[in-house]
Amino acid sequence: MKNILITNGRLIDPALGIDGKLDVALAGGKVVWTGNGHPPEGQWEIIEAEGKIVAPGFIDLHCHLRQPGSEHKETIATGTQAAARGGFTTVCAMPNTDPPIDNQVATAFILNTTAAEGAVRVLPIGCISRGRRGEQLAELGEMAEFGVIGFSDDGSSVPSARLLKQAMEYASTLGLPVLEHCEEMSLAEGGQVNEGIIATRLGLAGIPNAAEDIIVARDIALARLTGARLHLCHISTRGAVSLIRQAKAEGIRVSAEVTPHHLTLTEARCLNYETNAKVNPPLRTSADVEALIAGLIDGTIDAVATDHAPHTDNDKCCEFNLAPFGISGLETAFGSLMKLVHTGRVPLELIIEKLTAAPARIIGGLHGITGSLKPGDPADVVILDPNAEWTVDISVFVSKGRNTPLAGEQLKGQVALTIYGGKIIYQAD
Ligand code: DOR
Repeated sequence: MKNILITNGRLIDPALGIDGKLDVALAGGKVVWTGNGHPPEGQWEIIEAEGKIVAPGFIDLHCHLRQPGSEHKETIATGTQAAARGGFTTVCAMPNTDPPIDNQVATAFILNTTAAEGAVRVLPIGCISRGRRGEQLAELGEMAEFGVIGFSDDGSSVPSARLLKQAMEYASTLGLPVLEHCEEMSLAEGGQVNEGIIATRLGLAGIPNAAEDIIVARDIALARLTGARLHLCHISTRGAVSLIRQAKAEGIRVSAEVTPHHLTLTEARCLNYETNAKVNPPLRTSADVEALIAGLIDGTIDAVATDHAPHTDNDKCCEFNLAPFGISGLETAFGSLMKLVHTGRVPLELIIEKLTAAPARIIGGLHGITGSLKPGDPADVVILDPNAEWTVDISVFVSKGRNTPLAGEQLKGQVALTIYGGKIIYQAD
């Protein structure tokens, strides 16, 4: 492995409060120096980053890698290559695979496959309930020993408040969070898109905001009761934002994430029965998008996570109500978030914080993840060209999932280069 010196870039490292022209030296898989002018003695491969942003590699708290069981949609190999293309050096894998990751052997499978085939670090999330059936607790303690960073039945909420309370009590003795998919099942059942005028026009059943708000409120009450750490996944409603804001003001240990698509798109994307815009939770209204942006800015929403949910063309090429929910998001995350920067809505430094220091805090230092670039930290770096314009071309996606409503769209802001453990793993053409 060559030693790398990244020069003349603007280093943005929110965990350390750094934003300025600083060089970064990487050796032996670690950051060894940041500074100006006089790098340590040695042979360096120089990467010129004039006009570019240098930041810690992005961390995705929420993605679906589909292995084991749905390797036709994605594998750990292809999903982590897509992560590299998106500037992510750490991704947390949701356990709704087939079989689900609900015991130590399945957890070990994820870690071993990543060690053999992964392009970036994969941190497994274990199920809350056995088989994700919502009936009995999964092997939380054993999975914690094998390195899961938290527990989730993502894809569905835990229907029983009693079981979730138990899960929270166990998870807090293990020092880990519960990551909840917030969707009250009886309200959402059969729903295809956001409940409202677009659903009516399309003649499709809707999923009301209340389906999310009810579970957010219930789970906050349980976090208050148990003192456990609760992380709320892919928040999409204005009601959820205000509930989380109140809970944080009360001192409850709650954190939340939002996806790039919920921050930048509305339900209108589903017009023309666009199945690539069918996602769960559904794309909502512009009032919801505004509340999500406000929540991101005031800290109510801690992190941005992709909810990368790859599906095949065949899966999505069908009647709207037969198509699976999900958007392939790793390769477009940064470019779409830059829309918020270029329109003056959100500062670039905040976007970088939400993709680095913030998710690292939620992972809580496990697996040596810091989300920063101080000497001694892993040499996980992303170099970004904030002004590069590019067209989303799904034919060059490295994810097997080409299911994005952004196909053909022009974006401004691109990942130029990704370094993982001191090695260049992706470079834009
Ligand atoms: O749109 C979604 N797709 N939302 C989820 O919660 C699950 C995911 C999937 O696994 O496809």
